[in-house]
Amino acid sequence: MTSAKKILCIGAGYVGGPTMAMIASKCPHCRVTVVDIDPERIAAWNSDELPIYEPGLDQLVAAARGRNLFFSTDIEAGIRENDIIFVSVNTPTKAFGLGAGMAADLQYWEKTARQILAFSESSKIVIEKSTLPVKTALAMERILNSRVNGVFFDVLSNPEFLAEGTAVRDLEQPDRILIGSRETESGLKARETLAEIYANWVPREKIITSNIWSSELSKLVANAFLAQRISSINAVSALCEKADADVTEVARAVGMDSRIGAKFLNASIGFGGSCFNKDILNLVYLCRNYGLEEVADYWESVVKINDYQQERFIRNMLGAMFNTLAGKRICLWGFAFKANTSDTRESPAIFVTRRLLEERAEVVVSDPKALKNARMDLAGSAGRVSYVEDPVRAAEGCHAIALLTEWDLYRHLDLRKIFETMEKPAFIFDGRNLLDHRRCFDIGFNVYPLGKPPLTHF
Ligand SMILES: NC(=O)c1ccc[n+]([C@@H]2O[C@H](COP(=O)([O-])OP(=O)(O)OC[C@H]3O[C@@H](n4cnc5c(N)ncnc54)[C@H](O)[C@@H]3O)[C@@H](O)[C@H]2O)c1
Repeated sequence: MTSAKKILCIGAGYVGGPTMAMIASKCPHCRVTVVDIDPERIAAWNSDELPIYEPGLDQLVAAARGRNLFFSTDIEAGIRENDIIFVSVNTPTKAFGLGAGMAADLQYWEKTARQILAFSESSKIVIEKSTLPVKTALAMERILNSRVNGVFFDVLSNPEFLAEGTAVRDLEQPDRILIGSRETESGLKARETLAEIYANWVPREKIITSNIWSSELSKLVANAFLAQRISSINAVSALCEKADADVTEVARAVGMDSRIGAKFLNASIGFGGSCFNKDILNLVYLCRNYGLEEVADYWESVVKINDYQQERFIRNMLGAMFNTLAGKRICLWGFAFKANTSDTRESPAIFVTRRLLEERAEVVVSDPKALKNARMDLAGSAGRVSYVEDPVRAAEGCHAIALLTEWDLYRHLDLRKIFETMEKPAFIFDGRNLLDHRRCFDIGFNVYPLGKPPLTHF
């Protein structure tokens, strides 16, 4: 067990909240405070309705909140009173100026560094938890150590590898914890201080250390590899549709090669979420900055295939439904970017809805957890959109169902009953290959899976 520590996290989002709840739960001798500039978010963390949905998170937070886990908007006091500061603010893609659409927008990050400098009265360890471009720690160090007043800051990189939807499990049993630091005496000491915290529940052999730049880069590369696998199988799905092959069969055969492995080989409508797109674009921007055009092009193609897959989905719908969607009612099953989360950031469902509205279709959005976010994402969209949580009712009177999120509940619906309430011919476009396609076809649906021959009645 480590000695008692006073830990602060700046940024109470999808990463900051769950990560700190896990540290508080596993280190009851430490006091953990999470601060944010958004008072509504903090109020939600202090309520029974947390601002994000993650399986197991409610219980984790409820057990530690008020004991050694606190949520607050008092950033100044948080900085003054704590010795170890995680920074987990958002680092979205820059929307303006040089690098717009590619580079990371570091304004929130830099603002945080300046706040830490302004309010610190003693030396601290500052930990990059956000995903950042390589060499951000250098800028952080320069800002933090720009005053000569006896207060010194060690900057560590400790990227977060959790996946939304399985965050609590990932935090409890991580594949690895990565800590990057300067290889100075003070940097190595800070590295060990952080390692000791994780060692309260993570086996030591899973806590790996590296130089700080390797650590920053590892996070971008890990996300690029994951996204690359999705784009690879999605590219193959397009070929399977032309070649009368079945992408599930191909993926099974390929994935049984132990050098390749079976995970992340499900063809789908494409990846979404707040990270993959932004992190790859960030990597591409870095490569271009270093003059590595070929390397940049290689990684950029991962994003291009993802865009292509989403557009292909719409074109398949159009082609199957007699080249017009105007006036047709289309039900979306799922709006979250993946199952078991309420997060809709960069969800393919946003693109699909916008494209369907462009085609003048009427869209009925259904999702068990993400309707609140869906409403915000689609606010101001021109066209007819309605929101119905129950997937059975959502499909009533529709011409087609487009399954976009792999929520388990969609496997267990009474499809025969649903078919009876729909317009005919009724279509299913399975953007996750989740349903039993033969069964859907036997009920009467025209079925369009991804990467497999369609099953149609005409
Ligand atoms: N979401 C994921 O699955 C995931 C996984 C790994 C890493 N990351 C990375 O972690 C970082 C955070 O991601 P997230 O999904 O938690 O973002 P988020 O948008 O959910 O949360 C960020 C929070 O930071 C707050 N914030 C911004 N500026 C602030 C400031 N100056 N002071 C205090 N609070 C401030 C925002 O109000 C927001 O609540 C990003 O860099 C992201 O790339 C995310």
